[in-house]
Amino acid sequence: MALATSKKYLIDAQKNKYAICGFNIHNLETLKAAVSVAEEKKSPVILQATPGTIKFAGVNYLANMAKTASDEYNIPIVMHLDHCEDFDMIIQCLRAGFTSIMVDSSKLDLKENINMVKKVVEAAHAVGVPVEAELGVIGGTEDDLIVDEKSAVYTDPEAAVDFVDKTKVDSLAIAIGTAHGVYKGDPKLDFERLKKIRSMVDIPLVLHGASGVPDESIKKCIEFGINKINIATELKIPFSNGIKEFFKDSSNENDPRKFLKPGIKMMKDVIRQKIDLAGSANKVFI
Ligand code: 13P
Repeated sequence: MALATSKKYLIDAQKNKYAICGFNIHNLETLKAAVSVAEEKKSPVILQATPGTIKFAGVNYLANMAKTASDEYNIPIVMHLDHCEDFDMIIQCLRAGFTSIMVDSSKLDLKENINMVKKVVEAAHAVGVPVEAELGVIGGTEDDLIVDEKSAVYTDPEAAVDFVDKTKVDSLAIAIGTAHGVYKGDPKLDFERLKKIRSMVDIPLVLHGASGVPDESIKKCIEFGINKINIATELKIPFSNGIKEFFKDSSNENDPRKFLKPGIKMMKDVIRQKIDLAGSANKVFI
């Protein structure tokens, strides 16, 4: 089948109180790890590439690998651009066939953020592609996107209502205390803020920086209204650990088909666990 857009799957998740995982992928191996486990779990899956990954792997390679996967695997597969600040890159992704876009203009002031998101929504909706945007500022590090703790800003519920209304965005990434990358201690999440936003905003809500958040907190986030959880770091770690372990015993090996395998396996184990945690297993519908 063709690549799916995220819209109807996230709306179903909102209606039925579960979440779909957005897995950050970097190459063929990580992409296949995500789609093969999603198929095994009969779960829709969102593959995500950051601008850094687009520069690393190439926009057409990524779009075409995802399209091939959607022909070969019998589940809805979404190809999503993650955290993009650059309008030209957004257009390139739309032209290449990405089926979901996140514009991140959250560092701009509110008026400029709204204007940028409106512009992206107009372009993406014209070709039937939904848009995720961010209000508030999520801390931490993801590729070139670095936000120190002091610069993180929690999402204001009233502003979120206005933002969604003015931009017509399809899903909203909110800042409630998670951060991209590795946490020093357990993150303290503002569940009351999440509940308030959920009660006031009627579109799917997205949790960034889900790596390292304890399962119990993720479950609460889903119960209180999160519908997409983004996971990058917690996949990179097992992928690289698997490869590091392999080289401990086989330091002379030079065949990528052999040394990548343990990384893929360890990454797949985490993906399996995250899909179960999100509650998206057996949620495939056409
Ligand atoms: P983590 O690296 O913390 O999982 O964050 C991923 C993310 O939010 C991608 O947008």
